[in-house]
Amino acid sequence: MATKTNYKSSLNNKIFEIISKASQELHLESYVIGGFVRDLILKRDFKKDIDIVAVGSGIELALKVSSLLPKKPKVQVFKTYGTAMLHFEGIDIEFVGARKESYHFESRNPVVENGTLQDDQNRRDFTINALAISLNESNYGELLDPFDGVFDLENKNIKTPLDPDITFSDDPLRMLRGIRFAAQLGFTIEDHSFNSITKNAERIKIISGERIVDELNKILSTEKPSIGFLLLFKTGLLNIILPELTALNNVEEIEGHTHKNNFYHTLEVLDNICPNTDDVWLRWSALLHDIGKAPTKRFNKKQGWTFHGHEFLGGKMVKKIFERLHMPLNNKLKFVQKMVMMSSRPIVLSEDIVTDSAVRRLVFDAGEDVENLMTLCEADITTKNPNKFKKYHKNFEIVRQKIIEVEERDSIRNFQPPITGEQIMEIFNLKPSREIGVLKEAVKEAILEGEIPNEYEAAYDFVLKRAEKLGLKKI
Ligand code: CTP
Repeated sequence: MATKTNYKSSLNNKIFEIISKASQELHLESYVIGGFVRDLILKRDFKKDIDIVAVGSGIELALKVSSLLPKKPKVQVFKTYGTAMLHFEGIDIEFVGARKESYHFESRNPVVENGTLQDDQNRRDFTINALAISLNESNYGELLDPFDGVFDLENKNIKTPLDPDITFSDDPLRMLRGIRFAAQLGFTIEDHSFNSITKNAERIKIISGERIVDELNKILSTEKPSIGFLLLFKTGLLNIILPELTALNNVEEIEGHTHKNNFYHTLEVLDNICPNTDDVWLRWSALLHDIGKAPTKRFNKKQGWTFHGHEFLGGKMVKKIFERLHMPLNNKLKFVQKMVMMSSRPIVLSEDIVTDSAVRRLVFDAGEDVENLMTLCEADITTKNPNKFKKYHKNFEIVRQKIIEVEERDSIRNFQPPITGEQIMEIFNLKPSREIGVLKEAVKEAILEGEIPNEYEAAYDFVLKRAEKLGLKKI
């Protein structure tokens, strides 16, 4: 059912007039389509990304548009896909020729068969993304909505234009996109499409890790990521993409001892951390912080359920996940590993009396990331016991305060030894040897224990005394 709503007055970027003019000169039709139109109708913030579909050659249209612009921006042409892109005043404008049959999204053998606008709309992912606005002179600004996408926008539905089995087999990434849109927009995936995702979940295996992670990052960036992750879980996608997480979904009972369901706990931690950080890598850390618990779970009569060493194993598993999903194997990986490996440190502190030296050690080990670690561990407090909840949070406040104090005194965060190996060698006229390492380590320990401040004078006196025990004499 085509509606006749006109959006002419909303097309206030002058690029649209220019595309319209270029289309006239080339005698072809063009339309703005996809996310721009969806977000315009939803009154969402404009993302600086516009998709144009030409009934004809998208590449020719892009070249023509560029020639009509004063600065003649460079056109990037992707011949295999029949697409072209140019930048205009900070906006990416992508041009594509209308297609029939299989869609072009990273398919291995792109089928480039020209089609009409309706053919093209048929092959898009969701009704809300198949909305087009005409840039043609005869009906400039008119909305073309063959699948009642506006109805689905108003009713918050995620629904494929065609039989979902066809839409998802054209590009299985769309299963993830559907869940991501549901999570971002607060929409519901209509039953037929949802069931098809469940049925076709295995097909996600043909999609590259990079594209999957792009979508996961977008889900992680929503206000309440558990919504997206629960949908991933219910459709079976999560079990394929991140089986380490679904392995946490159980509660066992032996001799009346149970443990918490660490999958749902993880989702709670993830939601908890979101108001306190937009950093997607810290959110990844929250998501993965307990993955070592499934393989380390043991039961013994004395202690009940234990997960000894889960942080260390978890850190190793993080690396495997990053490799498998082709995520960046750089400082981002190191950061997430560090967060996972240290994820129990502050909580252990907060259960006890907080000593200065424990805080110093925490700051020493966490370095620059100590605040992030605290943010993660505070989110990890999911106890339903109000007294414990209060106590832990209060202790965290004390830890945070102590971090500031300890830092003011000893600059532990970027610890530099107050006395260097060279200086020690000079004092005792030593060649490089084991003793120097021993003395340096002793200085560090004394500072962390609070025996001496992190200063040269104090470290010098300390080294003299300690050296005596090693039989060394100052020269
Ligand atoms: N599209 C599709 N199938 C895909 C990817 C994209 O059908 N796998 C179509 C949709 O019509 C989509 C348009 O291409 O609206 C543009 O895609 P993209 O820029 O990736 O997404 P947007 O919808 O613009 O949304 P976002 O930028 O939030 O991803």
